[in-house]
Amino acid sequence: MIIENKYLHLDASYQGLSAQELKDFAEQRLPENFDALRNQLLRGEFMNASEGRKVSHCLSRSIHSVVAAGNGKNRFSDMVRELRSGRWLGATGKPIQHVVNIGVGGSDLGPMMGSFALREFADDSSLHNLEVHFVSSMDGGQLYAVFPLIDPETTVFIIASKSFGTIDTLANVDTVRKWVAAPGEGRESLTHEQWLSRHVIGVSANSVAMNDFGIPAAQQLTFAPTVGGRFSLWSAIGLPIALTIGVHQFSRMLAGAKDIDDHFGSAPVLENIPLLMALIGVYNREERGINNLAVLPYDGRLRYLPSYLQQLDMESNGKQADHSGKAIDYPTGPVVWGGFGPNGQHAFFQHLHQGYDAFTADFIAVLKRQAPDFEPGVQEGLAEQQRLAMANCLAHRKLMWFGNENKEDPRHNYPGKHPSSLLFMDELTPESFGALIAAYEHKVFTQGVIWGLNSFDQPGVELGKKAATEILAVLDGKAAVSDDFDASTAAMLKRF
Ligand code: F6P
Repeated sequence: MIIENKYLHLDASYQGLSAQELKDFAEQRLPENFDALRNQLLRGEFMNASEGRKVSHCLSRSIHSVVAAGNGKNRFSDMVRELRSGRWLGATGKPIQHVVNIGVGGSDLGPMMGSFALREFADDSSLHNLEVHFVSSMDGGQLYAVFPLIDPETTVFIIASKSFGTIDTLANVDTVRKWVAAPGEGRESLTHEQWLSRHVIGVSANSVAMNDFGIPAAQQLTFAPTVGGRFSLWSAIGLPIALTIGVHQFSRMLAGAKDIDDHFGSAPVLENIPLLMALIGVYNREERGINNLAVLPYDGRLRYLPSYLQQLDMESNGKQADHSGKAIDYPTGPVVWGGFGPNGQHAFFQHLHQGYDAFTADFIAVLKRQAPDFEPGVQEGLAEQQRLAMANCLAHRKLMWFGNENKEDPRHNYPGKHPSSLLFMDELTPESFGALIAAYEHKVFTQGVIWGLNSFDQPGVELGKKAATEILAVLDGKAAVSDDFDASTAAMLKRF
């Protein structure tokens, strides 16, 4: 069973479900008002009830909406052009050579994945030597690696945070501020005013906080609070992608997503890729009791896809309360994990083939890859490798489904019966990449509707932040180790 769309195709043959079974399951599980809810989503009118606002990421599928977002004065395209052409000068008159995106979760994973996946599509008509780096982790681990590569005079920092209040991001920014102001070997420092004047871009839905921070209005990009963090790579949060590939190529990515919006909104169930992905996922979760989905891209450019989908799916649908806040007693979103398929073969595939655990998988493949910039001999070598990867992708999914029974020798017995889907693209292009990501967004939305969840809030991340604040007070010497701490935490606090 292969469903073809303009940019993205789905082969669900190894799910072991006939068209009739899927049709019946859809009738059983899609609520009567599904069409209405889907239209609301696509028109930006679906309600995120617990946060009391609409969900509008589908309205960001054109460059005009990105530019016009917030106060209608976003300089998104100008900034991209100036930075990519070397016309953006730092406070001491030097052209900017490095951009560091500081953000976490949705303000990091999407931009990082997209920049990495699409870098060969860089429209380099105006390109000078601009390098884009990503810093997300609260431990400062990435700053250790980035500082030696950059210079305050030639670096712009993007502070990417929808809320502009995320401690991880603010902690990284604070350390950057200290680094910029401290003279180092072989580099000049900048004053705080110089830094703010030319070296900081804020991307946020919170312009008040960006003003309070001191970011000049011309260096602020805003987007609507109705765009969820994990759905925000289409908005100004996608700036690092546009800086990597240019505004025109970024628009192509948005166009691919829009194409899937239209497909999702109009294709009948059995021809509707996101809808089928959702129904299949619900079927595997409920009827087969499988609690996890392995995402296995077979194209290295998509190696950050599993982490991106982890947030998209798990933060959206890993919930135990329905949209009205009532407890639910059925399983919801699966654990999403995975990794770059060819390397996974030499790491965790042993367990997949012969371990005890049930799993379902999404194999992601790209059929053709052009390498016009290389010598003919090298092109041939790369084409052979493309075929090799494809052969392995097809072989492993086949083996996972059909197995290979060996009654005599259990060491060589492959039980099989692990259902998987193959999502494939003729070529990886900005459009097909946009289509792939939007298809997963709509899958997650549909599953949320089926399970009666609000897929657009994330209350489960709050308590951890509160607990960390209490512990940090002790580590900072502002509070004592009280009896409220359990023995293990108390012992660690003393030791630290
Ligand atoms: O982990 C919670 C979360 O709010 C995510 O939903 C979000 O993508 C991330 O933190 C970063 O948030 P912000 O963009 O507001 O800094």
